[in-house]
Amino acid sequence: MDLLVKELYELPVGAPFSGTYVVEHVEIKKHRTGEPFLRLVLSDKSGSFTALWWKPPADADLTQFQKGDVVFVSGRIEYFQGTLQPKLTEIKKLKEGDFKPDKFICQSRYPIEEQFEELLNKIETIKNPYLKVLLEKFFYDDQFVELFLRTPAGKTIHHACIGGLLEHTLSVVEICETVAKRFKSIDRDLLITAAILHDIGKVREYSVNVTIERTDEGLLLGHLYMSCEMVAFKISEIDNFPEDLKTKLLHCILAHHGKYEHGSPKMPKTLEAVTLAYADALDSRVKGFEEFIEKQLGNQKGWTRRHFAFEVPIFFDGEINYEEEGTNL
Ligand SMILES: [Fe+2]
Ligand SMILES: [Fe+2]
Repeated sequence: MDLLVKELYELPVGAPFSGTYVVEHVEIKKHRTGEPFLRLVLSDKSGSFTALWWKPPADADLTQFQKGDVVFVSGRIEYFQGTLQPKLTEIKKLKEGDFKPDKFICQSRYPIEEQFEELLNKIETIKNPYLKVLLEKFFYDDQFVELFLRTPAGKTIHHACIGGLLEHTLSVVEICETVAKRFKSIDRDLLITAAILHDIGKVREYSVNVTIERTDEGLLLGHLYMSCEMVAFKISEIDNFPEDLKTKLLHCILAHHGKYEHGSPKMPKTLEAVTLAYADALDSRVKGFEEFIEKQLGNQKGWTRRHFAFEVPIFFDGEINYEEEGTNL
């Protein structure tokens, strides 16, 4: 029996369970009698819960469990103050190869290969030869593509899954295309190129194993800077790439978080930059809502809890739908 976290919530109090989970947090605590016990936060791709190893054997090494370990646990379902908090009877550290990594990190809901095809089709629509060559330098490089297709777009709030960056990028491109169709003064090639490249620094910002983590480089530099650095480097390899085009493209990338307090060192100051910033915010907000609804409500309808970042509870009485019909996917 290897239950997903969300399946634990369906079990009655007292029911036995077992499963493999990632250790998100671990603490050695003490009973009033002085005996030690373990308090853990365990997770998989469907959610997380707190568990207690209430009565470890006297000779158990409680220090062996670390954040990021994958463990097999068994125990019984219990609730404390309305929150799931099972007591464990067994906990065992697993080695790589003893578990399936896909239990811990989800994948984009849309087929990755098809989405990538779609992105390559977008590149085909670019007429400016410099921008087209620049895009091809990234997306015809197998090593970069392999990394890009695995990278999530976020750690928690939106697209925190394998293929998440691809899904987010494609969505931002589609929103930008719609805006460029309406506002003809926009330089479409510049906007679409900026949309495709705006978050590429995330391939260096996140590392994906059984959990999604920010790398040291990601924490110290951030993906806005790293995206610019990667783009500027590729531009330096293209003969006669116009200097003003480079400046406008890098501006779009630097300004795509829209505000200083959201990490952008520059406010959007061109049509393309302002379009990209709103398209980016629109896609990440709507996707963030959708993922939260799915996680919190499952198949039910009504209100979610208050979202920790959006600061509102979300209402939903429809059905989550990832059908491909009506899109190009
Ligand atoms: Fe970003
Ligand atoms: Fe983005």
